[in-house]
Amino acid sequence: MLQLNNISFIQFKNYLQQQFIFEQKVIGICGNNGTGKTNLLDAIYYLSFTKSYFSTTDAQNVYHGKMGMRIEGNYSTNNNEATQLVCIFRENNKKEFLQNNEIIKKFSEHIGRYPCVMIAPDDTELLIGSSELRRKYIDTIISQLNKQYLLYLIDYTKLLQQRNSLLKQAAETNNLNEDLLSIIDKQLSDKATFIYQTRKNFFNSYLTLTLEYYKKIAESTDDIFLNYLSPLHHQSMQELLKNSLQKDIVLQRTSSGIHKDDIDVTMNQSSFKTTASQGQRKSLLFALKLAEWQTLKTNKGFAPILLLDDVFEKLDSKRMYNLLQWVCKEDDGQVFITDTHKDRLQQTLEKADITFQLIEL
Ligand SMILES: Nc1ncnc2c1ncn2[C@@H]1O[C@H](COP(=O)(O)OP(=O)(O)O)[C@@H](O)[C@H]1O
Ligand SMILES: [Mg+2]
Repeated sequence: MLQLNNISFIQFKNYLQQQFIFEQKVIGICGNNGTGKTNLLDAIYYLSFTKSYFSTTDAQNVYHGKMGMRIEGNYSTNNNEATQLVCIFRENNKKEFLQNNEIIKKFSEHIGRYPCVMIAPDDTELLIGSSELRRKYIDTIISQLNKQYLLYLIDYTKLLQQRNSLLKQAAETNNLNEDLLSIIDKQLSDKATFIYQTRKNFFNSYLTLTLEYYKKIAESTDDIFLNYLSPLHHQSMQELLKNSLQKDIVLQRTSSGIHKDDIDVTMNQSSFKTTASQGQRKSLLFALKLAEWQTLKTNKGFAPILLLDDVFEKLDSKRMYNLLQWVCKEDDGQVFITDTHKDRLQQTLEKADITFQLIEL
């Protein structure tokens, strides 16, 4: 069980000083544009991931003109145990995270303990934007499920930087340190092999869930398929690095590896990006996110916190009703839903026969 009972801010985004108390599992948040609905959801995300959902720096999250900020959340976890999480971004630009007053030394250890899933307006970028977005997305899910994965991913990124520096150095000095390269390549390969295997295993079950949710949301038989693309399907990372070495020397960076993996989405055998309608994009986005929610729930044994930002703008009332039926069941976790229209939010929740709390900003 995971439930956020209250959250308080000091100088977080548009909140100078504020506390919110959450007394229900389903919390509707309404208010006009710019009143801080998304910021409130982002703060909840922040406590789970030690960073903003949006790719902003910590400093950008400090109330304009002020120095430092603080977010505090009090949770009930298993057996009604109380847990306090505090994030402090100090005036000297240092970030501290505390769990029950104890400093969390490695943020990587925190990831996955308080799982949460955000669905936000611009998320369809995930389907049409760069491959980096999709890798980050998948990495964020797996990192919450598998500690080793996150650690190896961090190692891989560091090793990649070392290899790239070495390649740059080689270009400058006309002399490649082959001994060091072979040590780095060996380590890179070990990490890459593990990351690849984990992604592949994860992807199999995730794909099935996503397609099931798509059918339910879109109420259609569109022939959607997601394909995990990786050069490691065909050769080992060692071979890959060896084969691309000449090219890498010229480019002065590592041109191939699992840092180039992608997910290819097709519909009726052609590119989803170019053929899907707005509605189909929205349906697939929700399917991906709900599959994430479901995967975390199954794996953790309790539901992650679900953050639904402006989803009424994206789903018609029937789909919204269905969605609420799936995620707001008795035994499920907490759901936060924002909307600019109070009446719409209230009526939809009432119609779905859900007990909820309404916060007006
Ligand atoms: N660092 C900051 N300091 C002060 N205000 C901020 C900061 N970051 C964002 N805001 C303000 O927060 C408001 C947007 O909040 P947001 O949560 O996106 O609103 P909503 O989702 O309700 O439309 C804007 O008015 C913006 O200027
Ligand atoms: Mg918003």
